[in-house]
Amino acid sequence: MKNLGILLSGRGSNFEAIADNVASGKLEAKIAVVVSNRADALGVESARRRGLNALVIPSKGVAREDHDRQVVAVLREHEVDLVCLAGYMRLLSPWFVQQFPNRILNIHPGLLPAFPGLDAQKQAFDYGVKVSGCTVHFVDENLDHGAILVQKVVPALDTDDEHTLAARILEQEHIAYSEGIRIVLEGKYRIEGRRVVKSKDAR
Ligand code: GRF
Repeated sequence: MKNLGILLSGRGSNFEAIADNVASGKLEAKIAVVVSNRADALGVESARRRGLNALVIPSKGVAREDHDRQVVAVLREHEVDLVCLAGYMRLLSPWFVQQFPNRILNIHPGLLPAFPGLDAQKQAFDYGVKVSGCTVHFVDENLDHGAILVQKVVPALDTDDEHTLAARILEQEHIAYSEGIRIVLEGKYRIEGRRVVKSKDAR
């Protein structure tokens, strides 16, 4: 059984979707530890209610790499195989990324490479897109940039506002993240340049 380490900073709905899939056996993995850089993250409460190890490692005023070293120490202590950023509002240092080569995933609420960075749903809405969606990708040293594992597309409707669009995207995020995690844990893929190519026998 592979160990997941979840990093979050807020609401934690992506974490909850992953935890639900682990609990129901749809995702064969264990959530070894949840780490938040913010004490007030709702995701921490939620993880504790589920009986999971959840720690707060405050990042405010701490140099990026010093904070990352504390986080990585906890991930190692819990023998984490795959790190999942789930609304973790902090850039990882290159050092952190090098500790887990192709073993860190992120979910972005937009169809990368369009609209990277903060408020992707609002960026897309304001731009006037007709479709948007979400992207599960490997984390590399650049923001919202690594090789893409899964994308889901949703329509942007004339009746939408940025919030209804974001809610439609979020529903797909909750499905997409576990799909991406499963692909990586099963190891049935190869990376060719930027392309993640699934093996023929992958689900
Ligand atoms: C999600 O929209 C995710 O795509 C982005 O941050 C948000 C986190 O939401 N990276 P939640 O904390 O998982 O509910």
